[in-house]
Amino acid sequence: MSPQAKKRILSGMRPTGRLHLGNFVGALENWVKMQNDYDNFHLVADWHVLTTDYEHADQILPNTIEMVKDWLAAGIDPAHSPMFRQTQVKEHAELHLIFSMLVTTARLERNPTLKEQVRDLADKLKGRDLQEEIEADESGMPLITYGHLGYPVLQAADILLYKGNAVPVGEDQLPHIEITREIARRFNNTFGEVFPVPEGVVLKETKFSRLPGPDGRRMSKSLGNTIYLSDTEEQTGKRIMSAVTDPQKVRKNDPGRPEVCNVFTYHQKFNPEEIPEIERDCKSGALGCVACKKNCTAKLNDYLKPLRDRRASYADNDVLEILVDGENKAREVAQETMRKVREAMKIG
Ligand code: TRP
Repeated sequence: MSPQAKKRILSGMRPTGRLHLGNFVGALENWVKMQNDYDNFHLVADWHVLTTDYEHADQILPNTIEMVKDWLAAGIDPAHSPMFRQTQVKEHAELHLIFSMLVTTARLERNPTLKEQVRDLADKLKGRDLQEEIEADESGMPLITYGHLGYPVLQAADILLYKGNAVPVGEDQLPHIEITREIARRFNNTFGEVFPVPEGVVLKETKFSRLPGPDGRRMSKSLGNTIYLSDTEEQTGKRIMSAVTDPQKVRKNDPGRPEVCNVFTYHQKFNPEEIPEIERDCKSGALGCVACKKNCTAKLNDYLKPLRDRRASYADNDVLEILVDGENKAREVAQETMRKVREAMKIG
């Protein structure tokens, strides 16, 4: 297939800092796999991150650098897949403005992720109970800014600027893809065919699409159960050694149930070759949890070593250069799309 014939994928993340194994298994690893089959653009949604955290705007750049180091660590090749910051391609703002005319506020208020953001805000305000405020507020959404409401409109601009055919997303992002599709159709019906109507490719709900933390809960910074790609081998070991295994396996030689053990999940993902014997020896009681965790730590660290080495090979300035280069490539595509948009609308 010639490069032009490849479908284009636009994927993006908000830069909130270093990525953990949950992000890697749930998203990043899929981006890497898709590199050969699609034409990929990778967006740093550094305007989007302001919606939930505008007070800490000074953290966006350092967080961006950490996140992009993780992208590179995972094996995204900047020569083939441009990586770029939204803020450095102003066409995102222009298309967002135009799209904001093509969608009603009622439609955006129905967006289910908005309600989640109300909840996140409540968390951020240190457990302040927003229930009363929510009930007192006519919209039911106190603290929601214009920016929150427009979040999916900006995302639609992100996707359609690059005429993305597909967007790899988790289930939670599908409502945004639906809004993107509606906006694309509305534009095309009104002004003529400019945009493809993109598909959300839901990253397959495999056993690992939500890799749990070693404690079995969702892996999350706020729960203190993260294993970062950038962690040291010792830090990784600490997390695995404190993992929750089968609660019924109390003594070393008690028979265990791998199907309820978090360490077994990690073996399945990072040590598939040894699965039959681990399963057998855990069930028979021959394998104790401490030995099993030590083995798991070693295998996980082996798996991560090339990523960590690659990550360490990039200085902050290297990352900035990669971004600037990606931004030049992205801008070219974005400018061409905007020319078509203005032409179709006869506004320029
Ligand atoms: N909303 C996405 C998220 O929180 C981030 C994002 C912004 C994005 N723009 C995008 C994802 C465009 C895919 C395509 O995960």
